[in-house]
Amino acid sequence: MAELALEDVAGRVLVDHALEAARNAHAPYSRFGVGAALLLEDGTIVPGTNFENASYGLSLCAETVALAAANVAGQLRHVVAIGIVGGAIGPGGLIGDVPIYPCGRCRQMLNEAADLGRRDIVIYCASADGSVMRRHLLSELLPHAFGPGDLGLA
Ligand code: THU
Repeated sequence: MAELALEDVAGRVLVDHALEAARNAHAPYSRFGVGAALLLEDGTIVPGTNFENASYGLSLCAETVALAAANVAGQLRHVVAIGIVGGAIGPGGLIGDVPIYPCGRCRQMLNEAADLGRRDIVIYCASADGSVMRRHLLSELLPHAFGPGDLGLA
């Protein structure tokens, strides 16, 4: 039997939840669906999906939506990992071969949770059907991050 690291199993579960969330993407303008799923310290999974509107630039990313939901629940400091999937919205689901990475703004949002929890956040980036998954750390994707410490708040 092939061995699967525990971390990869966590990634798979998060990516599956992200795929489920992406089914509710409201993306009639870009026709690009994104799903995200946060893993909290206690095992809770918090989903998010992108939410566009007619004033294009005001759209919300899936990761930001998930982080805001974690914040409402008072759980921002307990975020340990996130899974992200995305692709063009097709008739049978998302289309695309390459893993989706969080945009710059979402990396900054994730950094706020990482700073609060005093940890690095694991980021699983997956392709449209979840078949390609890459594991990264936030510190790799957002080196030299600007954070609360720079404002003298840490
Ligand atoms: N999008 C996300 O949800 N997350 C990202 O990290 C990158 C982009 C969304 C925003 C918009 O609804 C669509 O993808 C196309 O840019």
